[in-house]
Amino acid sequence: MSSQAARLVVLVSGSGTNLQALLDASADETYGARVVAVGADRHGIEGLARAERAGVPTFVERLPEHEDRAAWDRAVAAGIAGHQPDLVILAGFMKILGEPSTTSFTMVNTHPALLPSFPGAHGVRDALAYGVRVTGCTVILADAGVDSGPIVAQEAVPVLDGDTEETLHERIKVVERRLLVETVGRLAREGWTVTGRTVRLGRSGDEPDCRKI
Ligand code: GRF
Repeated sequence: MSSQAARLVVLVSGSGTNLQALLDASADETYGARVVAVGADRHGIEGLARAERAGVPTFVERLPEHEDRAAWDRAVAAGIAGHQPDLVILAGFMKILGEPSTTSFTMVNTHPALLPSFPGAHGVRDALAYGVRVTGCTVILADAGVDSGPIVAQEAVPVLDGDTEETLHERIKVVERRLLVETVGRLAREGWTVTGRTVRLGRSGDEPDCRKI
């Protein structure tokens, strides 16, 4: 594996299939990024087991074990910082991170709906309840808000007659895993620029805010 590869710290709260997709992609040294640590807000989840099977170090910070939310936020940020990430990937991490993580790291979040529609913890359920015929997934640069950061990539998924939250989410996740892997790889290999809310992958000139890992 190339030592030049961008360092990814991935945060999870559940089954970790998006994490697995990143772990699998990292096995190819041309991918340009590798998972160096996995953090979680709870014990006993498959996401942590996936990391352990891959030999990737893990850390867990449970909110109830901290005096308050600010203390938990500091502990999570310290856990992340210990692995010196180039990018922090929120891959089904079901808590809102505040400072210092939001100001210290470049964070990428994946969401199972076409933002800005249906942000929050129940994007699939909310889209289905609204009756949309097309939903999808969105990769954003996370900010301090709830699914409010600039959009990097999106892909549509049709809603089928008879879909339940579970069937629709599983179909979205097939697309979501591929989109997350593609997008993280491109961010790592090509860099990006942000102008207002518009994210462009790659370097087209001497943009002062161009990020290159
Ligand atoms: C993904 O759909 C993610 O967008 C959402 O929760 C799901 C996590 O799936 N927030 P997994 O844990 O990666 O399998």
